[in-house]
Amino acid sequence: MRTILFSSRQYDVDTFTEANAAHGYELHFQESPLDTETAILAHGYDVVCPFVNDNVDAATLERLQAGGTRMIALRSAGFNHVDLAAAERLGMPVARVPAYSPYAVAEHAVGLILALNRRLPRAVARTREGDFSLHGLLGFDLHGKTVGVIGTGIIGRVFGRIMAGFGMQVLAYDPGPHADELIALGARYVPLDTLLAESDIVSLHCPLLPDTYHLINRAALAKMKRGAMLINTGRGGLVEANALIGALKDGQLGHLGLDVYEEEGGIFFEDHSNLPLQDDVLARLLMFPNVIVTAHQAFFTREAMTEIAQTTLANIAAWQAGTPRNVVQAG
Ligand code: NAI
Repeated sequence: MRTILFSSRQYDVDTFTEANAAHGYELHFQESPLDTETAILAHGYDVVCPFVNDNVDAATLERLQAGGTRMIALRSAGFNHVDLAAAERLGMPVARVPAYSPYAVAEHAVGLILALNRRLPRAVARTREGDFSLHGLLGFDLHGKTVGVIGTGIIGRVFGRIMAGFGMQVLAYDPGPHADELIALGARYVPLDTLLAESDIVSLHCPLLPDTYHLINRAALAKMKRGAMLINTGRGGLVEANALIGALKDGQLGHLGLDVYEEEGGIFFEDHSNLPLQDDVLARLLMFPNVIVTAHQAFFTREAMTEIAQTTLANIAAWQAGTPRNVVQAG
């Protein structure tokens, strides 16, 4: 099975090569992102394995199919970067890795909360400079505060459990099934507006879908508790990035932790340290002392990477055997 991995880095080479010992597929690691222009590179490959910021739209899929590709094996949980309807029309199954390590993402969200609350980046920079003062580093106890979890799927449930462990009151919002394990820990399911109004920290763990696009926009930010913290480890498009700047400037938003950003494609996963940053909104966000941005690294633990590689290759094997699994349906 000839498989090409787009947007691949050395860590993909390492984990996929190790997992491939069980399959013996011909793997080709391509650094370029996948789009209509680069789809030609997949000519002659049965399976294409894109990453989260690749553009797998209808035109790209058509070119892939013309080049002989028959399956799309995503190495991510999210699938918002694929035109599923077009894939279905072209008869190309799209498989994903539904759960690799919910702990990786949930723990990173918690890391952002602790780093923001206790101003850890600032504190570390300060002690490195020989400044051992505490002014400007005042945080708050998480214990006794309220955290709002938007989306209580696999990751949101793990996150909610951890936060309950800190002694926080957990509020949850999810139009889907409610998580009994969170309710057993004292969590309350409430309407979205109630969650926004009552939470000291709001954390996003829902997928990016047409109805969750800009779920946190100017109006939603205005409904939040003044000075609250917003954490997004879901997808950039869940939050209207432009609206964040005004909310941070006037203090409505007290802290912001982003692992994903609406326009992260072409920026995240790359070293731009010698180049002027072209994205003015991101550049402005990075200037706020109460904002932390990480470059879509929440998934990036050893355990998650191993699981991602093993499941992606197992998805290909299942499809090859005529028993496809983890296939995402359009609609
Ligand atoms: P999941 O499918 O288990 O859970 C998603 C939950 O969101 C479901 O319970 C669903 O009912 C809920 N939901 C759907 N529409 C909603 C809405 N309008 N409002 C609130 N909740 C809604 O997914 P999982 O594995 O927990 O992942 C969640 C998201 O996290 C993924 O879709 C992906 O975008 C993101 N993610 C980010 C990573 C990172 O590295 N930053 C890594 C992995 C996932």
